[in-house]
Amino acid sequence: MTANTPPDNKPEGATTTTPATRQGRVPGRPLRASGTPGVRDSRADDAAARTLRPKTVRVKKARGKTNAQVRWLQRQLNDPYVQAARLQGWRSRAAFKLLEMDDKYGLLKPGMKVVDLGAAPGGWAQVAAKRAPGARIVGVDLLPVEPVEGASFIEGDFMDDTMPAQLEALLDGKADLVMSDMAPNTTGHPGTDHIRIMGLTENALHFARDITAPGGAFIAKVFQGGAEKTMLDQLKRDYATVRHVKPPASRKESRELYVVATGFRGQPNPS
Ligand SMILES: C[S@@+](CC[C@H](N)C(=O)[O-])C[C@H]1O[C@@H](n2cnc3c(N)ncnc32)[C@H](O)[C@@H]1O
Repeated sequence: MTANTPPDNKPEGATTTTPATRQGRVPGRPLRASGTPGVRDSRADDAAARTLRPKTVRVKKARGKTNAQVRWLQRQLNDPYVQAARLQGWRSRAAFKLLEMDDKYGLLKPGMKVVDLGAAPGGWAQVAAKRAPGARIVGVDLLPVEPVEGASFIEGDFMDDTMPAQLEALLDGKADLVMSDMAPNTTGHPGTDHIRIMGLTENALHFARDITAPGGAFIAKVFQGGAEKTMLDQLKRDYATVRHVKPPASRKESRELYVVATGFRGQPNPS
């Protein structure tokens, strides 16, 4: 288990850039910087984030910055979810995606056992800790994750042979929810990136089947048209209900989608 500094290669929308003076209306209330946000107002936080409309901030091309870096910064500064995440103490704007999926499907429940694959910088783990009081939450990431109250983290590759045993030991049994927001490093080549993310998700699905308790659920990031046929067939075979979801916090221009599968039938079939 590790407890180190947040990653440098921030995932889509990781927070930290917006100056406090540019906030405009403030959704929710300020929270402890590294702790788990308080339990009240959780659904209101998300609604407030969606209604926040900051003034457009323009970023001048600075020496040493590439055009892509300037575009990234400008997008961050003008993204209401980034601002709301920073104000509310979420580690990532991705936290809102899980909040929204939980609002819709009631995935997080008190006392449950949760595995968070691709946990850094910890936004989803914070959401799980907030929405599922008393839950056992274990995150896995190649990168170190700052401590989150109510969660523990393993630094490593989820495909490591020892990972299922490590997780079951920390959870004291099988998981009720396996969630994967994992994303590989992108190459900029759409075909290659698509293959990489789908490969990661397919491995996450196999992994989930080994460590999920009957009745459990699986959430995973997929891309483009959603889970491809083979993966969809596997999901439908193993889970009672399979949905594709585009949470409002997922950027419209992004090809990202999530698959939300519930009612794990248990006993994975060999494939
Ligand atoms: C988009 S970020 C996750 C953001 C997180 N859900 C949050 O809200 O803070 C994707 C993460 O997946 C991790 N990742 C990618 N491949 C992985 C692997 N094979 N094993 C573990 N983590 C992996 C990356 O290191 C990265 O931190």
